[in-house]
Amino acid sequence: STKITNIKPDMQRALPSRIMSLLTKAGQVAERLGYQVYAVGGLVRDVMLKVENLDVDLVVEGNGIEMAYELSKEIGGRVRPHEKFGTAEIVFPDGYWVDVVTARVEYYEYPAALPQVEQSTLRHDLYRRDFTINAMAVALNPNRFGELVDYFNGREDLEIGAIRVLHNLSFIEDPTRILRAVRFEQRYDMAIEPQTMRLIKEAVREKVLSRLSNERMWGELKSILDEADPEHMLDRLDELGVWDYLFPEITFWEVQYVISEMPQALMILRNWGWAEPAEKWLPYFLGILHLTNQETAYQICQRYNLGRRQTDKVLDTIANGRIALKRLSTEGDVPLSELTKIVQTLPREAYPLFLTLLEDKNAIRRFRMVMESVHKNKPVINGKDIRAMGYQPGPMYRRALDAVWRARLDGLVSTREEELEYIRAYLEQNNAPKIQPKQPKPAD
Ligand code: CTP
Repeated sequence: STKITNIKPDMQRALPSRIMSLLTKAGQVAERLGYQVYAVGGLVRDVMLKVENLDVDLVVEGNGIEMAYELSKEIGGRVRPHEKFGTAEIVFPDGYWVDVVTARVEYYEYPAALPQVEQSTLRHDLYRRDFTINAMAVALNPNRFGELVDYFNGREDLEIGAIRVLHNLSFIEDPTRILRAVRFEQRYDMAIEPQTMRLIKEAVREKVLSRLSNERMWGELKSILDEADPEHMLDRLDELGVWDYLFPEITFWEVQYVISEMPQALMILRNWGWAEPAEKWLPYFLGILHLTNQETAYQICQRYNLGRRQTDKVLDTIANGRIALKRLSTEGDVPLSELTKIVQTLPREAYPLFLTLLEDKNAIRRFRMVMESVHKNKPVINGKDIRAMGYQPGPMYRRALDAVWRARLDGLVSTREEELEYIRAYLEQNNAPKIQPKQPKPAD
């Protein structure tokens, strides 16, 4: 018989009290319904690593949807059920959500009836997961709260730092796991263990990644670029032959230097008061694409289904980067306002890339001055003011605000009133589209 490990103390240390209370309530609700409930996956892993993780994934041995409804009565939030899969999300107004799934082996469909879900055990649910370190569960029912369920030695793998799949078909079943293996390995400074490594190489050789949709590919890629230190992950992806599936049009070694310098550049910029962009991945993405031409960059953006705004930022960086770099690197005679206008043609997210490309100290010093000047001259009006004038939100907003920004730099406007007047004139001149008033419905 195996010794039961209780990790409640680790949970209390790693998790905020609101998560602890949520988990406690989940256990109580399940008990009342006669079910067993477990927290699984990343949260358990991170608790054991003493890292905070707020993503709650619950597995219920019982009816997961019923469980979600009952739990939401206690903790609030709205339930979004997915009857077909026996899963539900409890969604809170601030965007936070909890996943609830039903543990099961398989399900049977009866003709002309709702799909019947055959309920089964936690073990099966965990066995379907990616790596042993992500396949642990912790029991939440009151009499077992904190009990670790570890069928696949995830705990030991955490201790020795091994990324290990649960079975040989794992990467064939789900090729995104190749990228996930790299992400977890580098994030936690672990190592993909030898057998798992062989399976990855085999899967790559068999081109399983070409079966992956662009959407799923991008999901994983974005997760990597959003990490605190993506640079080693990208090195590793190249080493494993995955890079060529992500960016067949880009040679890794040509952008490797810029990528490797990115963390340093980000740190310097933060010290200069540059606010981290909401899209953390974008500075790295720009670093990856900066040597391509407009058409290629556009194709890559399309392939990964980037939004219009993000695509524009990529294209602006490529269109204006080289000239901006040259101007900043020229000694002497370019006035600050001129440099500022040039730097403003670049999105903020391109600054880290830019900093890695600037070579001498003087150019870097000038860049810093320009950044501060841009910051100081930021217009006080914003999109809301344009909206209030009845203009339809769209790319024109940014263009108009940039125009105000330039006007400020040139000393044409300085007060809020002047800015408003300036932008009104600009929008009219450029025929910015107005919001159409809603037509009243014709009476039947
Ligand atoms: N999972 C899986 N295979 C995948 C994706 C997810 O087996 N391709 C499982 C893993 O058990 C994982 C859980 O689903 O722990 C949750 O997935 P996700 O939220 O993507 O990952 P986390 O492990 O929570 O990692 P992160 O810290 O990056 O959120």
